[in-house]
Amino acid sequence: MPRIYLSPPHLSGEEETLVTEAFRSNWIAPLGPMVDAFEREVCARVGVGHGTALSSGTAALHLAMLLLDIGPDREVLCPTLTFSATANAVAYTGARPVFIDCDQRTWNLDPDLLEEELRGLARTGRRPGAVIAVDLYGQCADYGRIEEICRVADVPLVEDSAEALGATCGGKQAGAFGRMAIFSFNGNKIITTSGGGMLVSSDGELIRKARVLATQARDPAPHYQHSRIGYNYRLSNILAAIGRGQLRRLDEKIEARRRNHEYYRAALSGLPGIEFMPIAPYGTPNYWLTVVLVAPEAFGADREAVRAALEAEDIEARPIWKPMHLQPVFGGCRVRGGTVSAGLFERGLCLPSGSQMTYDDLDRVAGTIKSCCRTA
Ligand SMILES: Cc1ncc(COP(=O)(O)O)c(C=O)c1O
Repeated sequence: MPRIYLSPPHLSGEEETLVTEAFRSNWIAPLGPMVDAFEREVCARVGVGHGTALSSGTAALHLAMLLLDIGPDREVLCPTLTFSATANAVAYTGARPVFIDCDQRTWNLDPDLLEEELRGLARTGRRPGAVIAVDLYGQCADYGRIEEICRVADVPLVEDSAEALGATCGGKQAGAFGRMAIFSFNGNKIITTSGGGMLVSSDGELIRKARVLATQARDPAPHYQHSRIGYNYRLSNILAAIGRGQLRRLDEKIEARRRNHEYYRAALSGLPGIEFMPIAPYGTPNYWLTVVLVAPEAFGADREAVRAALEAEDIEARPIWKPMHLQPVFGGCRVRGGTVSAGLFERGLCLPSGSQMTYDDLDRVAGTIKSCCRTA
C-alpha cells in the first residue's frame, strides 16, 4: 500500500500550462510577468494592496523585521508554540525573541498574556520592536483583541500566516492583519511553489522597500551601487507560475482538507482520550492540518505510541511543534507562561491532511488510531 504523507503537494495540471507559458516567453530568471501576476492575485485574494513574492516565508519574516528596524538590543514578542522560522527571523537581526504561551481555546498567541507582557515592559520603560502573531495550523490568531492590544501599546504587529492562506478572522482573510503579513508556499503548505513565500501589506512603501532589500539592495544607478546590505530573496518567474496554478484551486484544497477534518472528527471523536484542536468562534480555518490530542490515561496509549503505530503502517504523522522556549537554541530567552504549550506538545499529533486524500486513506489512518486505544 502506498505511503500516506502528512501534507504532500497536490498539482492540478494548470501549473504545467502556466510553467510552459513562462518557458515559452523565455522568462525563467528571477522576477518577470508570472511573479507580477502572482503577487496581484494573492493580494486580491487576501484583500491587501501590496505584496512581494519571495524565496521563502522565512525570507518574508526576515524582511518584515528589517523593515521595522529590528536589530540588536531589541525584543520581539512571539508565540512559543510555532515553527522555528518565526523566532529564527528575529534572531537573524540580532534581536531577542520573547516567547508568549498560547491560549488553550485557540492554541494561538494568548491575548491576555500578551497584554500582561506589554504592560510589564511599559512599567520598566521598555517597548518591544514588534509582536509576531502566528496563525497556527491554518487557524487565525484572535486579531480582534491582538490588534487592539498592539495599537494601545504602540507596537507594530506582524502576522505570520505561513500556514493559513484562505482562513478568515472576523470576516477578513488571513494575511490582512497587522503592519505586514507573510505566507509560505513551501512544499507542505496548502498551496505551494515548491519553495517560496510572500510579504504583504496595505502600505505600498513598505513593500517597495522590501523589493529593494530582496534584490541585493541595489540603488537606482546604471552601475551596481549599494548603500545598505541586501539579500537575494526574490522568487523565480517559473515558481510563480506554479503558484498561480495552485492559487486557482485554493478553495478546492480548503474544501478537501475540511472534508478530511470532518471525517476524522466523525471517526475519532467518540474514542476516550481523543480531543481535536479547538475551532475558534471568530473565524474559519483553512484546515491545513487536522491535529488531535491523545490523553494517555484515558486512551490507553500515548501520542508517541500512536505515531509509531501509524509509522509502522507507512503513515506519516508528526508531533505538534515543540515550543520554542523548550528548544535548546532558544534556551536563554524569556518566556511568559509556557505550560499550556508544553502540555499540548506532550499530547498533540498532526494527522495526514493532504488535499488528495481518499476515503480509503482516511479509513487507514483512523483505523490504525482506533486500534491503539486500549480503553474503549
Ligand atoms: C508558522 C510558520 N512560519 C514560518 C514558516 C517558514 O516558511 P518557509 O518554510 O517558506 O520559509 C513556516 C513553514 O515552513 C511556518 O509554519
